[in-house]
Amino acid sequence: MDMSPIAAGAFSKLLERTTGQELVAGRRWRIETALSPVMRAEGLETLDQLAHRLGRDEETRLAQDVVEALLNHETSFFRDITIFRSFAAEALPAIAALRGDTKRLRIWSAGCSTGQEAYSLAIELRRQAHLWQGWDIPIVATDVSPQAIARAREGLYGQMEIQRGLPIGDMIAWFNPEGESWRAKPELRRVVSFAVHNLIDATPIGRFDVVLCRNVLLYFPPETRRLVLEHIAAAMTPDGLLFLGAGETVLGQSDAFEADRTLRGFYRPKAR
Ligand SMILES: C[S@@+](CC[C@H](N)C(=O)[O-])C[C@H]1O[C@@H](n2cnc3c(N)ncnc32)[C@H](O)[C@@H]1O
Repeated sequence: MDMSPIAAGAFSKLLERTTGQELVAGRRWRIETALSPVMRAEGLETLDQLAHRLGRDEETRLAQDVVEALLNHETSFFRDITIFRSFAAEALPAIAALRGDTKRLRIWSAGCSTGQEAYSLAIELRRQAHLWQGWDIPIVATDVSPQAIARAREGLYGQMEIQRGLPIGDMIAWFNPEGESWRAKPELRRVVSFAVHNLIDATPIGRFDVVLCRNVLLYFPPETRRLVLEHIAAAMTPDGLLFLGAGETVLGQSDAFEADRTLRGFYRPKAR
């Protein structure tokens, strides 16, 4: 379907202004597939008509539907398993060694999509329950998308979703069957809380010892990436650890972080 440059520009601008995400030329092919359901729901036939109806008001329900449709929520349980393993085997023990007095660790999954990352962390912690007796380790998981957060809170996954990254033994151990789907058990849901939060806003979200921001920075233009990394650094304890998606780095992107000297793939806020 043809789309005028003006319509393409309108969708890209809306997405970037509301979420910081850039719809680079190489990803514009996604627009049509992503927006077809919105067009159908509105009874429209072309993307140009949709762009026209969108007008300039970004607070409308239609604008929110368009943003939701354009966001990439791709995720899975234990995505990049090696990073997860070193998180459990190295990062958590390293930071826990510094928190013996309070026995409290706060974890933030920033850009959590539909919750698989946060539940994977909760599973990892439950697996090591013997190490964490008497500890309080809440996981806060946030995303700019209200729809993704609503789904994450439900903790209910279809067959295809549950099988992505989750071995069958874990599925049975940590999820209850519900019709054709699987719901995270209360012991997982108890430790994870979900909230809508936009990383481009400086709104304080708390102070965290460990932050995961994986496969989110990828689609921010450089200046937004820098801003978001500053917001994340401001929400961390000075000795906290940040970890990113495979192939992502903060090096050359921001002065707010430096690579950890011993833990490979982890970053620490730079002393100010
Ligand atoms: C590709 S998913 C990654 C999910 C998960 N972290 C992972 O690695 O599997 C990226 C998520 O970032 C969210 N996101 C995009 N822009 C955001 C922003 N400005 N603030 C918070 N979340 C954002 C999207 O809604 C999407 O759910």
